[in-house]
Amino acid sequence: MTTTPIVLLHAFPLDHRMWEDVAADLPGTVLTPDLAVPAGDAPPSLEAAADRVADAIRAAGSGPAVVAGLSMGGYVALALVERHPGLVAALALVDTKSTADTPQAAAKRLQVAADVAAAGTVDPVRGMPDVLLGETTRTARPEVVERVTAWVGEQDPSRVAWAQRAMAARPDRTAVLQGFTGPVTVVVGDEDTITGVDEARHMAEASSQALLVVVPRVGHLSAVEDPAAVRTALVELAQRVSEAG
Ligand code: MLT
Repeated sequence: MTTTPIVLLHAFPLDHRMWEDVAADLPGTVLTPDLAVPAGDAPPSLEAAADRVADAIRAAGSGPAVVAGLSMGGYVALALVERHPGLVAALALVDTKSTADTPQAAAKRLQVAADVAAAGTVDPVRGMPDVLLGETTRTARPEVVERVTAWVGEQDPSRVAWAQRAMAARPDRTAVLQGFTGPVTVVVGDEDTITGVDEARHMAEASSQALLVVVPRVGHLSAVEDPAAVRTALVELAQRVSEAG
């Protein structure tokens, strides 16, 4: 058992609740901060989100953490490594990627942000569970679809728009991953159609420290669809920190 804190960073357009099932049986201190928090007139930025995560790790007072980020959470995790490397003992990159958006993808995000702001509701992203969840979950597990759909529907539209704008502005952080010297685990659902196995392999190959875990029959939200598999990967990652220390 480890005393290294574990930080779980959520996906878009969700919040800390997506980690509930993984966090329930993890040992020690577990932090699940909400990421999309607009700060006054400051421009939307994943770097600002990473700085707030750094504050939370420092406030927990227990030293460098195992940091796991799923999709948008992974983008923030890499920004955290870049800006606060001393706070990250190990990295789990779950259904995410280290590359930036194409110009087309960034433009689409800005359009979605504008649509959400204009609507004043989350209607423009309400259908996202159809792509977030894997085909097996969508066809065989209606209760999971219902849960994720409810979470999306409960998001604050201003935070949804903020997160889209922040993600559109992020740079490629593959070099940050290459430079990270702690243990890394890359996790991906084999039915993930948003950031799939190719992106996962790209990250695993960028890091000399990486293990690749492919979770069968789950999509982009592996931590919701198969929390036990993701928890096992995190516990093993924390053990690698203990063994190295
Ligand atoms: C997420 O799950 O956080 C989003 O799909 C990330 C993205 O839109 O790139």
